[in-house]
Amino acid sequence: MQSLTKKLLVVTLSVLPLVGVAQITHDHQEKAPVPKAIAVLSPTKGSSVHGGVTFEVVENGVRVVANIAGLTPGKHGFHIHEFGDCSSDSGTAAGGHFNPSGMQHGAPNSDNRHAGDIGNIEADKAGNAHLDYVDPVLSLSGENSIIGRGVIVHAKEDDLTTQPTGAAGARLACGCIGVAKR
Ligand code: CU
Ligand code: ZN
Repeated sequence: MQSLTKKLLVVTLSVLPLVGVAQITHDHQEKAPVPKAIAVLSPTKGSSVHGGVTFEVVENGVRVVANIAGLTPGKHGFHIHEFGDCSSDSGTAAGGHFNPSGMQHGAPNSDNRHAGDIGNIEADKAGNAHLDYVDPVLSLSGENSIIGRGVIVHAKEDDLTTQPTGAAGARLACGCIGVAKR
């Protein structure tokens, strides 16, 4: 019994330095700044909405550039959701709006908004939507980083007031935000 305890102690001590090295490597990776991220949006079941969005760090925040196709004309809720999980048919595996600071749902230019509240995209008669603006809240680093989170396009307009979703309805497309090649 005593020798077993000794063996366990030896094993534990010999593993400790390895854990230390792994920890340092991990920290280093997290601190390396990501300048640009990308999400490719695929249709949920029964939808034909698809497209892409890039997020690039600029002087006053993160520049969001989106091109989405297959929509009905008009405004569609467009958010970053908590999880980068598009595995479910309806897009619900992406969870609720990304909200690391416990705020209310709101407009992108509001002080009280979920970090993931990037508002609406507006499709033309052909069903194509283009968006290009600088968001002051989004981040590609630190606790509020959107890397690994989900992007959702909705069936209806985000009214920017209804809690906690903006009443934007069904999820038509989903994508996961990853590190982009510059
Ligand atoms: Cu949403
Ligand atoms: Zn929200």
